Amino acid sequence: MKLGRLNHVGVATPSIEKSLEIYRTMFGAEPHGEPFDLPAQGVRVCFVDTPNSQIELIEPLGDNSPILKFLEKNPAGGQHHVCFEVPDIDAAKADLEANGARVLGEPRIGAHGTPIFFVHPGDMGGVLVEIMESPER
Ligand code: CO
Repeated sequence: MKLGRLNHVGVATPSIEKSLEIYRTMFGAEPHGEPFDLPAQGVRVCFVDTPNSQIELIEPLGDNSPILKFLEKNPAGGQHHVCFEVPDIDAAKADLEANGARVLGEPRIGAHGTPIFFVHPGDMGGVLVEIMESPER
């Protein structure tokens, strides 16, 4: 597989609106569009642009949201995952699994409309890693 650019850093938050207020006040940064729901992933999402990447603010959506546990441990929110782009999602999955990494679920469509999957932090030095197929540019 070929490691591509850092697409975003995922930040879990109990309130996207409160987090956006922090980015607005501290950095003068505005959201990249309106927050939107990703029901299949149990999250509500909003992006903030930085010159070379993005911050993905993620808020729980529904009672089975995968970030509810994270917020139980980190009630104020916190850094949740990093997302790297790859040119070919299936090749990346095959190569990571061949190297013993636990891929969490099958590739599915992510917040940028391209396939994504997550890799177990226990195989990634403690970092939850999202792998995302690069969007067409
Ligand atoms: Co993400």
